[in-house]
Amino acid sequence: MTQHPTDHTTRDSRRNVVVTGGGTGIGRATARAFAARGDRVLIVGRSKSTLDETADHPDIHTLPLSLLDPRAPQLIVETARRTLGGIDVLVNNAARSGFREIGELDEQDIREQVGTNLLAPILLTRSALPELEAARGVVVNIGSAGALGVRAMPGSSVYAATKAGLDSLTRTWAMELGPRGIRVVGLAPGLIDTGVGVRAGMPQETYDAFLAGMRPKVPAGRIGTPEEIAWWITTLASPEAGYANGAIIAVDGGLSVT
Ligand SMILES: NC(=O)c1ccc[n+]([C@@H]2O[C@H](COP(=O)([O-])OP(=O)(O)OC[C@H]3O[C@@H](n4cnc5c(N)ncnc54)[C@H](OP(=O)(O)O)[C@@H]3O)[C@@H](O)[C@H]2O)c1
Repeated sequence: MTQHPTDHTTRDSRRNVVVTGGGTGIGRATARAFAARGDRVLIVGRSKSTLDETADHPDIHTLPLSLLDPRAPQLIVETARRTLGGIDVLVNNAARSGFREIGELDEQDIREQVGTNLLAPILLTRSALPELEAARGVVVNIGSAGALGVRAMPGSSVYAATKAGLDSLTRTWAMELGPRGIRVVGLAPGLIDTGVGVRAGMPQETYDAFLAGMRPKVPAGRIGTPEEIAWWITTLASPEAGYANGAIIAVDGGLSVT
């Protein structure tokens, strides 16, 4: 009998989910949304305290680790296998922003942005392939609506290039991995109030002024919430969304169509 993607009766419908950057912002909301749905979640990030705060549910497990550590891909996959039992969903969410023009970025900052936002998802996805293939799993790459298509992002050029690169990986991996039963989708958030600017070094007033200045430009007339993005991530990863592959969905209140 053919199993319909919405038929959960013949297998454990709880999924094993890895969320990078799961200690704050969109990653935190995503981890909690998967756990609330009954899934088992492993969150990865450098700060143990924010991971621990996020893990307020028995099915959220933590792995304090930098994705820039060369051992990270192997450690994450091994921990997911041991703690969760495998990987059905990999959310490549962790990123480092950089609100500076190219001439003001130092080399370390550039290397960390490319390493975290682009190289880390490549190496982690590659290492997770056996688990994802066994699970007929899903990769969700978190891009940015600001960097979609041919858009320019002055003041964030390296960040934008990493996100455009991630979108390219989403499309190509969908073709490469589709025949192996793995789906790859992208989610491109618009302006979401996560405090990311402050964590990237902006004074709170500057970040608040930035969001206030952008608000009137968003057709929806407001800034989004991490929970709104988390809903889309869990939905795109669900079996019911099984025909979405290689698609990159902008969830940005309409900003990218202006
Ligand atoms: N907020 C927005 O308006 C917006 C807009 C477009 C796209 N996005 C994208 O949405 C995603 C989440 O952003 P957010 O706003 O929720 O920002 P955030 O709260 O700053 O989340 C980024 C996460 O990445 C983790 N991280 C950074 N470097 C890491 C490393 N080397 N190793 C492991 N983890 C690392 C951080 O944790 P540690 O510091 O503890 O490591 C943090 O939890 C990102 O991909 C971002 O580019 C956000």
